[in-house]
Amino acid sequence: MIAVIESVDALSKRIEEYRENEKTIGFVPTMGALHEGHISLVRKAKRENDIVIISVFVNPTQFNDKKDLEKYPRTLDADVELLVPHGVSIVFAPGMHEVYPKGVELGSDIDLGGLDEYMEGAFRPGHFKGVAQVVKRLLEIVTPDRLYMGQKDFQQFSIIGHMIRTLHIHTELVVCRIIRESSGLAMSSRNERLLQKTRDQAGLIYKTLKAVKKYRNSKSVSELKKYGLKRLAVPPFQPDYLSIVDGFTLQPLNDINSSTYAVACVAVWADGVRLIDNIILKKD
Ligand code: PAF
Repeated sequence: MIAVIESVDALSKRIEEYRENEKTIGFVPTMGALHEGHISLVRKAKRENDIVIISVFVNPTQFNDKKDLEKYPRTLDADVELLVPHGVSIVFAPGMHEVYPKGVELGSDIDLGGLDEYMEGAFRPGHFKGVAQVVKRLLEIVTPDRLYMGQKDFQQFSIIGHMIRTLHIHTELVVCRIIRESSGLAMSSRNERLLQKTRDQAGLIYKTLKAVKKYRNSKSVSELKKYGLKRLAVPPFQPDYLSIVDGFTLQPLNDINSSTYAVACVAVWADGVRLIDNIILKKD
């Protein structure tokens, strides 16, 4: 039976019981509108822990665009329904005052190690401060042994990993592979907002990333970026960036061979929806 819990007090009592019985806890933070990508995180969490807790909370502090926040789908009943066969113990669906008891404060002083300077961070000012703020708060509430995040949000999990290390939080970050639709489009709650035709064509993004990977040894970084951006600039798709970065520092690379871990990350607009994806070009 899944328990849907809204208050921090009620959740803390349940967690205390789990701890008394020496249960391990896996935690999947989400903003709801769950899809197969989230379910794959839940499955892995279930395999590796006694208890799985998933949170559903649309965090206002990470939205730099108010319209995006308003349009974000809220589908709690359907989310709970989807989780029923997957052995989740608790859906934590807190109200705003539970997460932000002192009122919603924008931003925070968490050190992001400069990892928020490029890519999504450059295009969405304040976004990662909001993400780090809410994940820190959720980790304080849930105190999980393991935290499950998807590789699709490469910059997000890198920043959360940095935060966990620098704040000495006793939670292991587990990064899970990208789950894709049949077209190759990386799964995201935002995909629902695409026109069906666009959604069918959006495999272009992953195809482009795979081509960039294929040419990684025969083209320079600037040639790869030029090639990829040109391939992506087919209406209704409009790329924001295609960056080739070091997978640890997220600093842009001029030469793939200067790094042991190189990643190509991309953001593309289509039908007013921002789609992100990435591919690991090399990891020695
Ligand atoms: O990736 C998300 O859905 C959100 O950024 C997260 C990690 C749940 C924080 O609100």
